[in-house]
Amino acid sequence: MTQSMIEIKSPYFLREEDLSSPADFSTIFGNKNPLALEIGCGIGDFIAQMAATFPERNFLAIDIYNKGCNKTCNRLEHKGLTNVRVMRIEARYLLSRFLTPGCLTAIYINCPDPWPKKRHLKRRLVNELFLQTLLHYLQPDGELFFSSDVADYADAVAAHLDRVDGFENQLSTPVSHNIPGYPLSKYMRRFLAQGQPIHFLHHRRNRQHVCEGAPPQSTQRGFRMDWSANHG
Ligand SMILES: C[S@@+](CC[C@H](N)C(=O)[O-])C[C@H]1O[C@@H](n2cnc3c(N)ncnc32)[C@H](O)[C@@H]1O
Repeated sequence: MTQSMIEIKSPYFLREEDLSSPADFSTIFGNKNPLALEIGCGIGDFIAQMAATFPERNFLAIDIYNKGCNKTCNRLEHKGLTNVRVMRIEARYLLSRFLTPGCLTAIYINCPDPWPKKRHLKRRLVNELFLQTLLHYLQPDGELFFSSDVADYADAVAAHLDRVDGFENQLSTPVSHNIPGYPLSKYMRRFLAQGQPIHFLHHRRNRQHVCEGAPPQSTQRGFRMDWSANHG
């Protein structure tokens, strides 16, 4: 069944067709503050907390879920948080089309779809290639935060990060059950309420690391067509 699409009219919402490639975020925000990205913002509770805590940063919150983007915009408007913009867009497409390498001060990925079945593992968004791509888009010292309710996903991402030259773990263990001060998202709260721990990772792009060449592109077939057909 096709879900109905809500037309999002919020001033917080950015449409692909209105943006240059790459997008000029200094003009969009009206300042040159550092830009952070949340991938898979859901209903926007995490990004609203971050934006309120760090008013001197700009945030881009993206999701392929139309209703989630709408709820995120409504939440931000309600709270009067002007340092966030929202896009309904697929993460890999956003990076390659609208962002420039080295432009991000932080990337947040919270409770990405876990694809727990063995035959679906290759659908997970965060794999080694994607982490190499993210490294290109982080500025030197830029931070990557990942959280998951699925231990096996978090362990796999920790192992990938170990192999990607240029990331430095900021925690004393590869995975932790707590990052002090890190806001909780809707999914995190849901799993914690069920007594399930959340598994957190926190890395930085090494200040000395030089990313050679162009950012790698995903080789997954048809992801862009898949998401627009299947997500309301
Ligand atoms: C399990 S939900 C978690 C939502 C939120 N981060 C939270 O923790 O409450 C995962 C979200 O990621 C979005 N998503 C999945 N794949 C994506 C992709 N390739 N690009 C952008 N968003 C994606 C989904 O639409 C969904 O809203």
